[in-house]
Amino acid sequence: MNTAHYDTHGNVAVIRLDNPPVNGLGLPLRQGIVDGIKKAEGDSAIKAVVIIGSDRAFSGGADISEFGTPKMLGEPNLLTVINYVESSSKPVVAAIGGACMGGGLELALGCHYRVSKPDAQISLPEVKLGILPGAGGTQRLPRVIGAEHALNMIVSGAVMPAKMFNGSALFDEMVDGDLLDGALSFAHKVVSENLPLKKVRNLKAKHANPEGFFMFARNTVGAVAKNYPAPLKCVDAVEAAVTKPFDKGMEIEREAFAHLINTSESKALRHAFFAERLTSKIPDVPSDTPTRDIKQVGVIGAGTMGTGISINFLNAGIPVTIVEMKQDGLDRGIAAIRKVYEGRVKKGKMTQEKAEAAMALVTPSLTYDDLKNADLVIEAVYEEMGVKESVFKKLDEVCKPGAILASNTSTLDVDKIASFTKRPQDVIGLHFFSPANIMQLLEVIRGKETAKDVMATAMKLAKTIRKTAVVSGVCDGFIGNRMINQYSREALLMLQEGATVQQIDKAIEKFGFAMGPLRMADMAGGDIGFAIRKRQYAENPNMKKMVVADRLGEMGRFGQKTGSGFYRYEPGNRNALHDPEVDKVVDEVRKELGITPRKISSQEIVERCVYALVNEGARILEEGIAQRASDIDMVYLTGYGFPVYRGGPMHYAEEVGLLNVVRAMETFAQNPDAEPGFWEPAELLKKCAAEGKRFDEYATSKNQ
Ligand code: 3HC
Repeated sequence: MNTAHYDTHGNVAVIRLDNPPVNGLGLPLRQGIVDGIKKAEGDSAIKAVVIIGSDRAFSGGADISEFGTPKMLGEPNLLTVINYVESSSKPVVAAIGGACMGGGLELALGCHYRVSKPDAQISLPEVKLGILPGAGGTQRLPRVIGAEHALNMIVSGAVMPAKMFNGSALFDEMVDGDLLDGALSFAHKVVSENLPLKKVRNLKAKHANPEGFFMFARNTVGAVAKNYPAPLKCVDAVEAAVTKPFDKGMEIEREAFAHLINTSESKALRHAFFAERLTSKIPDVPSDTPTRDIKQVGVIGAGTMGTGISINFLNAGIPVTIVEMKQDGLDRGIAAIRKVYEGRVKKGKMTQEKAEAAMALVTPSLTYDDLKNADLVIEAVYEEMGVKESVFKKLDEVCKPGAILASNTSTLDVDKIASFTKRPQDVIGLHFFSPANIMQLLEVIRGKETAKDVMATAMKLAKTIRKTAVVSGVCDGFIGNRMINQYSREALLMLQEGATVQQIDKAIEKFGFAMGPLRMADMAGGDIGFAIRKRQYAENPNMKKMVVADRLGEMGRFGQKTGSGFYRYEPGNRNALHDPEVDKVVDEVRKELGITPRKISSQEIVERCVYALVNEGARILEEGIAQRASDIDMVYLTGYGFPVYRGGPMHYAEEVGLLNVVRAMETFAQNPDAEPGFWEPAELLKKCAAEGKRFDEYATSKNQ
């Protein structure tokens, strides 16, 4: 296991990579390849070598989990392995099927010949991890498919089917039948025809006008890469492939790789890679837990959420029955869905036939009776417990046994909702984010009694509808909204204390959020926040009031939809414009509260907003609402526009240093306007900071 197996087929040796699931090129596997090559070299009966992987992957590339550890450079490192292969005195044939990515493709390019299944997935995706191919990919790929194609692939990390390159020097043959048989017969041909040891390094990477092309590439790539340093380094390296000797190009690639792997951007992207895959794992729900079949879905409510949710299932080919109370609401909902599909057809993103096929899967209905065959029903009705009670009682009556009953609530107690039914084990929260057909995040709310197979089904279904599902326990606001309340609160309080609307949004946007908190509030609609604050003030009379925001709410300034909020908007235009009226309100409120405005730096704005997220995140973790810190990061990366190159709030805090975060919080607590106790660090945060541990590391060490 984790290594390579060596056997012989007549005069051909076969090195089979065996490091499931995707043959990541970890140290034992690298050693196995080198051992195999040495063995073949030492056996005079062997005339050629085939390197082959599994059906799933020739190789998914370097083992990313080794990055940043001594194992990554441990000999034989990947460059050494590829040198061994390339300098073998016996021809080496790569037999490629499944994923052939990153270091996997680089290994294949070091072989003398390559045969491939037409549907093998070819890619140099390193840029998505904030690095560039570091084992010769930037030098060899341009030599086989040309500089322009290679640069496009390297800069985008795009995955291409092997058949796209049929006829290029990347592949010598496409194999339609059994890959090993095809590779063996190709190797026999090489031997019998005494074909030469072809080395990609000896080819020329050509471009008719390198100077113009790379200048253009640098401008274009630089304009989109913004906060990511890797893409421009890719341009430098591919340029070197065209303009410099192979060994010099390798040196340039190696230097760039060594630099990029230590950047905070790469660390964040690698964190996100693993975090994304971890979210689907629930420790007490093993991956072989049986799931329920979801062949028919019911959605209650044909408003914005209900229609958005429905589209996800229609896109996946799952029929949806949408139930509304009144015909006109139902008609509006169906028209809204049709409009989405028409838009996609118009933009060329979908064919007319596919759009019609999706629409044909919708059954509009005015009665719950039509839900009796549904395997899953999701309610997306008004956010009020009484309304949910009547919906779930009705569902309990009409739905078949085993149907999953889901609420799209964003705040309410899913356990209470479950208690309205006689089958709480079948009840779950599926919290979609608006627009539900576009946003990647799905919070899966696990109630006290939610059955394990219901959880497993929800996680599987999320993959079917291409969502990133993150499990959350039951609490007010679940993971995402519970945290964002603290972040928005800080923004609103700083507005009272001395910052301007523009300054707050600018600081947060410069940090990398897609939108500052006040612009976001205007977009989402201030009425929801206004209502939530009123409830919170009633529940917690000592809570610091966000008076400016409340005053704007009282004035009916609910953001874009009312033409004004923290900004003003021209009719039909979403551009946020400075509004002196708001400045006036801010001044009045400061006077009323006796606040002498002080200068608030961008650093304070960012730290107070982000550390408020982190502290609440730590509480959510210690309460067991989130399974792990990386899940919280995924919520923020996929649902709240947190900059991906910062890896999510918890990862970001760990990079800043949790002790530094705690110290900053202690400073904020000294602020005369601070609410007593608000900046008290969560116990978990304090412990991790004191022990120098990362959040998830602390949880793991505690469980050992
Ligand atoms: N290293 C370590 N683990 C890897 C890995 C890699 N390169 N690629 C995938 N894995 C792991 C995943 O973390 C996951 O682990 P889990 O089962 O514990 O969750 C498991 O393999 C399966 O991965 P997926 O769930 O993603 O499986 P899919 O079948 O959906 O996709 C894949 C397979 C297309 C290979 C996809 O995993 C992928 O894109 N992997 C990353 C490829 C990549 O970025 N390669 C470049 C690595 S960097 C490099 O090579 C540097 C070199 O230039 C020097």
